[in-house]
Amino acid sequence: MNVLLIGSGGREHALAWKLAASPILQTLYCAPGNPGIAREAVCVDLDIDDHAAVVDFCKDKEISLVVVGPEAPLVSGIADDLKTAGIPVFGPTAAAAQLEGSKGFTKDLCDRFGIPTGAYMRFNNAPKAKAYIHATGAPIVVKADGLAAGKGVTVAHTVEEASAAVEDCFEGAFGEAGAEVVVEEFLEGEEASFFCLCDGESALPLTTAQDHKAVGEGDTGPNTGGMGAYSPAPVMTDAMIERTRDGIIRPTLKGMAEMGAPFTGVLYAGLMITSDGPKLIEYNVRFGDPECQVLMMRLKDDLLLLLKAATDGMLWTTSARWRDEAALCVVMASKGYPGSYAKGSSIRNLQEAQAADDVEIFHAGTATRDGEIVADGGRVLGVTALGRTVGQAQRKAYEAVDAIEWEDGFCRRDIGWRAIGRNG
Ligand code: AMP
Ligand code: GLY
Repeated sequence: MNVLLIGSGGREHALAWKLAASPILQTLYCAPGNPGIAREAVCVDLDIDDHAAVVDFCKDKEISLVVVGPEAPLVSGIADDLKTAGIPVFGPTAAAAQLEGSKGFTKDLCDRFGIPTGAYMRFNNAPKAKAYIHATGAPIVVKADGLAAGKGVTVAHTVEEASAAVEDCFEGAFGEAGAEVVVEEFLEGEEASFFCLCDGESALPLTTAQDHKAVGEGDTGPNTGGMGAYSPAPVMTDAMIERTRDGIIRPTLKGMAEMGAPFTGVLYAGLMITSDGPKLIEYNVRFGDPECQVLMMRLKDDLLLLLKAATDGMLWTTSARWRDEAALCVVMASKGYPGSYAKGSSIRNLQEAQAADDVEIFHAGTATRDGEIVADGGRVLGVTALGRTVGQAQRKAYEAVDAIEWEDGFCRRDIGWRAIGRNG
């Protein structure tokens, strides 16, 4: 079958790498793709915001599945438009993508269907939000309601900081996304990410991962899209997975179906493992980036068959098996990220760096110039390795990082520290 993958990041490179290995794949196209993806797929210069153009492309190339990587096209209804045109698509409709597109929507769903999460209030003006913050006290969390590229959340340690975050939102720091604000209870515990494939009715649990959102070692400094990840996450014991599935995922799918917005695609639950068990921090309606990179390294089964089964409402016929090894991904970013950074510096020695067994370098923000790979974004490479333990995967990943010649890049040197602290 012919498949169109939408996106251009490290997540999409990992998906392309895995899809390309499927025996049922004929041609994989990717719009817009990147130089790493171009090794696995035919990259096409399609404007993914132009849904009619995407539909035309799919008809022309006889695409029998579209796989949508990032959230923005889903929130803006690309799955709806493809479905209307009769093209099968892996990813939720705009109505179901509200699980990521509106934090208030998800909090209301939790409230209505008894899903464990932090206490919250929704506000559409600053004075009321600030009054609530004063009455509740700190620490407290302030979130812009809509999509803000991972930057709309402030974990405030003082009432003043929380009030300033409220002001920022209503003054337009996050544009439309901040026109409504959710103020939420601060949850204490260890974070973990849990992924499921969903077909509207049932969920196939995938596996767990842990992300490293802060830019600096020891989880310091501003938040980023993610500086590294590993899988599995030891904090997600079998008991925690079961509680998450039964108490969080199942009622979500049931609730969404009841509300007329059944969820198809990847449901990514951002969890806080508290002393009372798992609580939902947020949902994303797509694979995590860089969590996808570690998941794909561990997945033994045919990804295309799994995504097709989810799209066809046939998940109950499938299972997903995982390699016993741990996978760990170190993100290399341009110096300055998540603030401003320069583009265009040369990156060399990538071939040699990934020569070792079980090491893959996934491209995110790269471009080619005169036959050479250059940096073209904030997060640039996802250096990913498998190992018997998280510690061994970490050593292999950093060996590969150290073989890469890129003066203008940096990475955190402590990816995996929590798991390594537990198990070595
Ligand atoms: P989000 O974009 O909702 O994942 O939030 C970004 C980060 O803020 C999360 O990964 C957590 O580290 C933190 N965070 C969000 N909500 C809470 C909460 N209610 N309690 C504690 N930390 C939170
Ligand atoms: N790595 C976090 C995310 O994909 O949202």
